[in-house]
Amino acid sequence: MIAALVNLMPGVGRTTLALNLAGELALQGRRVVVLDVDGVSGTGDWIARRRANGMPALFDSATIAGTQLRHGLGGFAASFDHVLLDTPSRSPAALRSVLSVIETVLIPTWPDRRSLGRCAATMQLVIEALAMEPALTASLVLSKVPDGLRVEPGSEATVMGLRLPVSAAVIRQRRVFADSMDTGLLVPELEMAGQAEADIRHLVSEIFGLATAAVTG
Ligand SMILES: Nc1ncnc2c1ncn2[C@@H]1O[C@H](COP(=O)(O)OP(=O)(O)OP(=O)(O)O)[C@@H](O)[C@H]1O
Ligand SMILES: [Mg+2]
Repeated sequence: MIAALVNLMPGVGRTTLALNLAGELALQGRRVVVLDVDGVSGTGDWIARRRANGMPALFDSATIAGTQLRHGLGGFAASFDHVLLDTPSRSPAALRSVLSVIETVLIPTWPDRRSLGRCAATMQLVIEALAMEPALTASLVLSKVPDGLRVEPGSEATVMGLRLPVSAAVIRQRRVFADSMDTGLLVPELEMAGQAEADIRHLVSEIFGLATAAVTG
């Protein structure tokens, strides 16, 4: 599958999700590559921190220019089970290029109304792409959801008349996700069988349809 994490808004958790989804898929035996579109997403820094900490790569990574996606993606799609694209914020042109070459788009967003409102421009481009590409699927992923906040995942969100499904899997605000970004380690490498890993496994199972072993604790 070719999937992308997108949002024109910065700081919503695209890179954290791209890397931990890739790690989980790799731990489940899949051949995975993370592509950093235009080289600005932050995946390269994470890979460098991982290497500095002596951790094995687990999955491949590369940088690809948004303008090269149409020509360059085929080789990756042929060599890997899953290609995950981490994308720049604030670049509608890159987002359009990404949306024209992928199968699944995930839009991480904070769960409050104001943040959802700030996704309107992203949602607009995704909805336009859905009309053009019948095979494309899309969902919002509620990210950094604070403890105790009641959310209604698995339904639809309507923002300024734009409507997209919301994944049933929710990524909670957890310290271990921030630690994952700071250290280059995956969440299960920092906290075995923890709730952050359960969040990621839930999303993997929902989006990639893979069976996942139960996580306890
Ligand atoms: N679920 C989470 N719980 C707690 N902190 C998180 C979570 N997800 C991400 N973070 C923190 O939020 C920060 C931003 O996350 P991340 O870099 O993944 O977002 P991004 O959308 O890729 O941002 P950018 O626009 O900078 O590329 C990170 O430093 C990370 O520590
Ligand atoms: Mg990023």
